[in-house]
Amino acid sequence: MKRIETSSGLSPHQEQYRRAVRCCFIAGLILFSGLATSCSDSSPVSEAPLVEKEVPAGAFARVCVACHGEQGQGNELLKSPSIAGMPSWYIEEQFRKFREGERGAHTDDAPGQQMRAIALTLTDEQISEAAEAVSKLPVILTEAPGPGAEVEKGRYLFANECMECHRYNGKGEVVFKSAQLISLNRSYLRRQLENFHERKRGAAGTDTYGNKMVDVTARLSDDEMDLLVDYIGALAHGDDPRPARER
Ligand code: HEC
Ligand code: HEC
Repeated sequence: MKRIETSSGLSPHQEQYRRAVRCCFIAGLILFSGLATSCSDSSPVSEAPLVEKEVPAGAFARVCVACHGEQGQGNELLKSPSIAGMPSWYIEEQFRKFREGERGAHTDDAPGQQMRAIALTLTDEQISEAAEAVSKLPVILTEAPGPGAEVEKGRYLFANECMECHRYNGKGEVVFKSAQLISLNRSYLRRQLENFHERKRGAAGTDTYGNKMVDVTARLSDDEMDLLVDYIGALAHGDDPRPARER
């Protein structure tokens, strides 16, 4: 029994291998979340060229850009929304929901689950810092509707069902914790209306504000959701849902 043992009970060779594997795993995590700075272990794997030597500025560049894009414009393939110019209070509130499982916890909500996984890797400070950076990016407006859109019908529906909380300009309202709508991509808007309608989002007992969207969307048909997505596009490009006397 003359085997040289390390504190972990493994031979130096095994120990080195284990360190390399661990470092490799950490390097993968870094690439995925962009959080840690560098792998401090001196095993050869820490020299892997894919590990960033110099960490760029804040969490936005390191983490968010991978899925939401350089300008925060979102990515249709990844189902990530445009977040550029979103109010920071809203971003922080959604992070709280993702972290606490009020959002992104439904088994049939893969995009929500992805964002929840990211939210769980970040500290409060990183979230505040990223939210601040994202809120300062120039807003990218929702695409205008196509020529066949029934804007008048959509305007009527929006004025009656949505304006009270999302305001006449669709910019949301901190007091009601309601989202800014006029900067969201059409596919994302449609999917979220459906998510609330199907109770994949907003249905948790603790989610007082999300519950309101569940109630509102329970009344909407598929056609009405389409009308509203078109209308939010029109709203983003200057339409006004208020009656003439209130403008
Ligand atoms: C792995 C990909 C990925 C990364 C990295 C990521 N996100 Fe997301 N994010 C998503 C997806 C997908 C959604 C859509 C979730 C849904 O459908 O509910 C989303 C949703 C969001 C939302 C909710 C938007 C809304 O309108 O309610 C915010 C806010 C957000 N992300 C901010 C960030 C920030 C800030 C970062 C960086 C710290 C980040 N995300 C990193 C994929 C990602
Ligand atoms: C009683 C207030 C209220 C009304 C009425 C209301 N909303 Fe909302 N809406 C909210 C709140 C609060 C949120 C944020 C929910 C959350 O935090 O998950 C929200 C979120 C949303 C979202 C998700 C935005 C995002 O960034 O993910 C969409 C889309 C939306 N509302 C569209 C509508 C439409 C369209 C109508 C009209 C049919 C409407 N809302 C009516 C309060 C309201």
